[in-house]
Formats: sequence, structure tokens, C-alpha cells
Amino acid sequence: MSGPKPFYITTPIYYVNDKPHIGHAYTTLACDVLARFKRLDGYDVRFLTGTDEHGQKVEKSAQAKGIDPQTFTDGVSANFRDLARVLNVSNDDFIRTTEDRHKMACQALWDRLVERGEIYLDAYRGWYAVRDEAFYGEDELTRGPDGTLTAPSGAPVEWMEEPSYFFRLSKWAAPLLQYYEDNRGFIAPESRRNEVISFVKGGLKDLSISRASFSWGVPVPGDNAHVMYVWLDALTNYITALGFPNQDGDYTTYWPADLHMVGKDILRFHTVYWPAFLMAAGLEPPKRVFAHGWWTNEGQKISKSLGNVIDPVDLIETFGLDQVRYFLLREVPFGNDGDFSQRAMINRMNGELANDLGNLSQRVLSMITKNCGGVAPTPGPFTEEDTALLDAAKGLLDSLRSTMDRQAFHEGLEGIWIVIRAANAYVDHQAPWALRKTDPDRMATVLYVLAEVIRRVALLMQPVTPDAAGRMLEQVGQGEDARSFAALAPEIMLQPGLPLPKPSGVFPRYIAEEGE
Ligand code: MSP
Repeated sequence: MSGPKPFYITTPIYYVNDKPHIGHAYTTLACDVLARFKRLDGYDVRFLTGTDEHGQKVEKSAQAKGIDPQTFTDGVSANFRDLARVLNVSNDDFIRTTEDRHKMACQALWDRLVERGEIYLDAYRGWYAVRDEAFYGEDELTRGPDGTLTAPSGAPVEWMEEPSYFFRLSKWAAPLLQYYEDNRGFIAPESRRNEVISFVKGGLKDLSISRASFSWGVPVPGDNAHVMYVWLDALTNYITALGFPNQDGDYTTYWPADLHMVGKDILRFHTVYWPAFLMAAGLEPPKRVFAHGWWTNEGQKISKSLGNVIDPVDLIETFGLDQVRYFLLREVPFGNDGDFSQRAMINRMNGELANDLGNLSQRVLSMITKNCGGVAPTPGPFTEEDTALLDAAKGLLDSLRSTMDRQAFHEGLEGIWIVIRAANAYVDHQAPWALRKTDPDRMATVLYVLAEVIRRVALLMQPVTPDAAGRMLEQVGQGEDARSFAALAPEIMLQPGLPLPKPSGVFPRYIAEEGE
């Protein structure tokens, strides 16, 4: 017997050196939209997020605060867990790398790599950027006017010389290139895929995977003088959460992951190191890694030193949660960099949510309350225009499936808006308010068509604006049991005579305060 198809999606696990900001919220929300979409579409979804708590960067942040790293990480990790609730994120699990289940998984992976001859002891001499927790070659660095060396990311580097275990990454270059070739969709978007391929074609050096100069990490099995390199530790979280090293149960069901969502800065770790570790351990690599772009704030790079970090909680207080969720996924073609500006946020919120969708639904449903006795009207025969609009709404699910599988959120939303705009044009053209006196039967048909389109749009908007879409669905009489995408089958239509409650506004307008 075959059950629902599994779908495993992950966010990166976030460093606990700092408060959550808009970048974290963005990655998590994109995953949430996909997870909700797939659940509604009948998949057995596992959605994982969590925190990356080891390494020198976190240890230094704890020291700077004068507290021990465990107490420090307990506090910051809780902020990330809270943020997931504030964002109304539907994750099924929240992993912390300081948990025992995770240490066990890391050590089991390490043992497998040792057994297969993939690890050897040597010494590392080279450059390291604590901010990126990454090693850099001399040729990648630039010297600033004051003589300091920085990594391509802008992070300062320091010279490191210590005994270290190495992973035989160099021998995995060819199998990686073969994997990219055989799995065209593994790295997305396409431009990023080319970047990774040329990086690997440039040759891979063996990778230092342990540190001996500090202790905030997972101990290397059999050698307590070393802790594992934080990226080996962190990447393993994706299988820890499936019960690895136990390969029955969740691991069998959900691995390989369908999608690791990451920011463009951490693509190399996910598309080079991670699949190489897995292949070397005799495990399957993930199916797809998507790298999204970065946000700037009113045209400026976001940084603590500039003091322009965007706190997602403040945004939500100002504009509303569903509005922020919608904006982040609508404003920028997913994969590109984007700019956050108040003006753009307000334009989307007022123009698209409040006017296009909110007004449409409010107008139509109030006309039904006033003129159709508060029940879904009974339609007469459909005209060509009615059928064209209904067909456009019925076609949305298929096109959204394809855009979601490509993570083209902006395109999916634009597709929904094409139908919403067509519905607005249809109301204006059909003028049901005028039909009330001249042709009440035709008015009933027009309002029925519109209510049916609103039902379909609200069902499809659930992943992006879950609260507002839920309220719209209540207003078109759809209970919890009628809200999965099964209700979008072409033959399922709004039931005439269904009692509809009196509507109330779902998407408020943003009104600037005096002086803004
Ligand atoms: N701990 C690692 C990930 C380990 S995954 C096995 C890490 N953490 S992070 O907290 O620094 O970053 C997490 C995510 O936030 C990354 O995907 C990063 O791209 C994203 N963002 C950080 N700043 C961002 C913006 N300004 N805009 C969009 N996303 C950004 O890296």
C-alpha cells in the first residue's frame, strides 16, 4: 500500500550568536509556505528548523557576555523558537545542535567516515574567518588599506596553526560533478549552479574537520583533544532529526531531503561539503538545494554596525503578520537580492492585499448578505465570461504546483493576482448592484461566480497568508474540513444555499501616522 508522498524540507539552522533578524525570518517563511502548500496538497510533510549552537563564533559571543556557552545558547535558541511562533511557522521539529540526539548522530557519521578511510590526522596551517566559520586560501583574500586581510565575504581572517583531522574532500570532486550533471535540479537557481560547478572544477583541497584550540563543540570520537568543525556538526542536523544513525523509520521515510533552503552565502557548504560527506559515508545526498538572495534595507547593506538591522517582530507589529509574509515572498523574484523599503511594503499591502483582494471579497460578500438572504446564491446558466473567469481560477492549482516546485513564489502569487484582477474587472463590468432591480437571477449568477472565485483564491492563499485566508474561508462558509486542496478539484463548487456569515474586512489598509 502506498501512503501519501513524503516531502522533507529544512531551513538552515541559525547561529545563536545574535538576535533573529529579517534574513532568518525570510528563509524560514519561504520554507513555511512550501511546507503548508505541500501539506494542503496531500503530502506527508516533515519541516525542520533549529539552531546551530557550537563553534568559535558562538563561544566568543558567550564570552563577550560573560556567561557560559550552554546558558548563552539556551537563551538565544529560545528567541529563535519564539520567532517561529510569532511568524506562524508550521515546523514539525526544532533541532538544537547541543542536544544529545545530535551529538550521537555526528559521532556516528564521523565513525562511518573513519571506517571508510575518509579521515586522517594532520595539521592545519592557514587562514580562518570566525565570522563565517570557514577556511580560506591565500588567493581568496584581499588586503585592506590598513593591512588587514579579509575573506570574500568581508569577514576578517586569522592565521591558524593546529593539529587537525582532515576529510578527503579532494577525491570527491569528480563524483560531485557527476552528481550535478545527473541531477540538473540539485542546485538552484541555475546561475548558482554554474558558480558551484566552476568552484569544484577548480579543484578541491582536503578539508580540515576538527579544531583543537577550543572545546565548544561535539568531541571527536576517540580523541577528546578535538571537537568537530562546526559545519560538519551543523550539516548533520538534517539527518539527526530523522533519527540517524537509526536508518529505519523517519530516515527511510524522509531521506534524502526534498529541499534544503539556504541563503546564497552558505550554498557551497550545502552543495559541495554536505553531499561529499554523505557520499563518503555511503549515504544519499539531498535532492535539491535552493539559494535565495539577500535583503538590503532602504538600499543599504544590513549590518549591526550601520544599525539598520530589521527586526521581524517590529515589522509585524507595524504592518501585520500576513502582510509581512506576503510582502517578503511577493516583492522579489525568489533567488534574487531584494530591497526592503517602507514604501514598497505599504504599496503591496494597500494596493494588492487591501484593495485588490480584500475589497473584492468584502464587496462581493456584503452584496450576498444584503441581497441573497445571507446564503450562497443559486446560479443560473453560465455565460462565456462566467466560464472564462471560473476556468482561470480552476487552472491556478496546476500552475502553482509547478511554480512551488521551482520555488518561484513571486510568480505563483502573480498568477493568483491575474485571476483576482480579472475578478475585479468582471465585477465592474457585470455591475451586479445594477442587476438587483433589472435581472435578479443574473445578479445571483454573477455573485455566485465571484464567491466561488473567492473560495478558490482563499484556499490557495492559505500557505502565504494563513490567518487572513482562514477568515476569508469562514466567510465563504468553508469549515476546516473543506480547506485542503482536494476542495479545488474542478467539479467541486460552492454549494448554493450554504449559509454565509456577515463578512468583515480581512486585509486592513496601512494608514500612515501623522508626520510619517
Ligand atoms: N549556522 C549557519 C547555517 C548552518 S546550516 C547547516 C548560518 N547561520 S546564520 O544564522 O548566519 O544564517 C542563516 C541564514 O540567514 C542564511 O541562509 C543566510 O543567508 C540568511 N541571511 C542572513 N542575512 C540575510 C539577509 N540580509 N537577507 C536574507 N537572508 C540572510 O549561516
